[in-house]
Amino acid sequence: MKILVVGSGGREHALAWKLAQSERVQTVFVAPGNGGTARDGRLVNVEITDPAALADFVVAEGVALTLVGPEGPLAAGIVNLFRARGLKIFGPTREAAQLESSKDFAKAFMQRHGIPTAKYQTFSDAASAHAYIDANGAPIVIKADGLAAGKGVVVAMSLDEAHQAVDHMLSDNRFGDAGARIVIEEFLAGEEASFIVMCDGRNVLALATSQDHKRLKDNDQGPNTGGMGAYSPAPIVTPSMHARVMREIIHPTIQGMARDGIPFTGFLYAGLMIDADGNPRTLEFNCRMGDPETQPIMARLKTDFLTVLDHACNGSLDAVELEWDRRTAVGVVMAAEGYPDSPRKGDIIDGIPQETPECVTFHAGTQLVGGTLQTSGGRVLCVVGLGDSVRMAQKQAYDTVEKIHFNGAQYRRDIGWRGVK
Ligand code: AMP
Ligand code: GLY
Repeated sequence: MKILVVGSGGREHALAWKLAQSERVQTVFVAPGNGGTARDGRLVNVEITDPAALADFVVAEGVALTLVGPEGPLAAGIVNLFRARGLKIFGPTREAAQLESSKDFAKAFMQRHGIPTAKYQTFSDAASAHAYIDANGAPIVIKADGLAAGKGVVVAMSLDEAHQAVDHMLSDNRFGDAGARIVIEEFLAGEEASFIVMCDGRNVLALATSQDHKRLKDNDQGPNTGGMGAYSPAPIVTPSMHARVMREIIHPTIQGMARDGIPFTGFLYAGLMIDADGNPRTLEFNCRMGDPETQPIMARLKTDFLTVLDHACNGSLDAVELEWDRRTAVGVVMAAEGYPDSPRKGDIIDGIPQETPECVTFHAGTQLVGGTLQTSGGRVLCVVGLGDSVRMAQKQAYDTVEKIHFNGAQYRRDIGWRGVK
């Protein structure tokens, strides 16, 4: 069977790597892929990004199933397009993807269906936004309504910062259409966790839990990034917390979408904030897997992933029980010099060791140039180590990180720290 994975990041490398392990899979195409998927003999890169051209490719090659990694193509309607042509694809429709592509849509949805989240208001007029901030005080959180590649959220610790964020988004038009409307919401304190499930429109299947590390530097210092590392499972999501999140957030979301006439299919990622009293609230929804959460999650998945996806596309996820490696997986992102603002490209990468049962390196911003592996983006690699404890998994990952070299490499030395007793 031939499979297509859409995207080019570490998430897509991990999804394709896992799919290629399935006995029923003949080829996994990755569009457009990266240097790692280019080097892997079981994967084939395809230089296509336009959704209609991808659909033509799928028909011409007889691809049985398409899996979409990033939010961009989902929000642009790639699932609508494929389904209209009778092609099997796993992901949400353009309408369902609004849970991620419009913060205002997501907040109004959560309010309507009683899903716990921060108190908020939506603005397109700067004067009212400034007045709301003055009335509510800091800390306060300002979010661009639309997709802003992870850069549309300002957690303002002071009033000054909050007013500035409003001016940047609404008056200076820094995010274009994505920032023409903003959501201003209550600041929530606590510990974050990534809660990701698969949905077939009706049934829900929870994946292993995980925790991302958004700040660039150790001890959660420095600027926000797309994610500098993740580990799985996240100990804060105890079995009773898991049950509560399913009951209070996930099921009401899936049922609410169905009731609103927009059944959700695909990966649903709830970014949670769990407060000191153990109450989970939804910070955001993503309509896809997380990056870098996917890398440690796929490293732990033991069940045949193609079988799972088949059920997900056929509406029979209730027939699936997932089996996980009991070990902890720690994924450490190695980023380029200058990341996140202006990552340098073109540095030569060497020293990536062969995959072992304890460690695998997924590629993101890499490319092969005449047989040489070079950096080509902000997050370059994600090295995933597996071990019986967080510490042992960290050791596996960091021993490998130290063997890999490219000029200007930056990485955190504390991925998984919340899980270390
Ligand atoms: P989002 O894209 O909405 O998840 O926001 C990105 C990051 O901003 C989150 O992972 C949190 O670290 C932080 N954040 C978002 N909303 C809030 C909030 N209401 N209170 C505190 N931190 C937040
Ligand atoms: N790791 C956060 C995200 O994928 O949005």
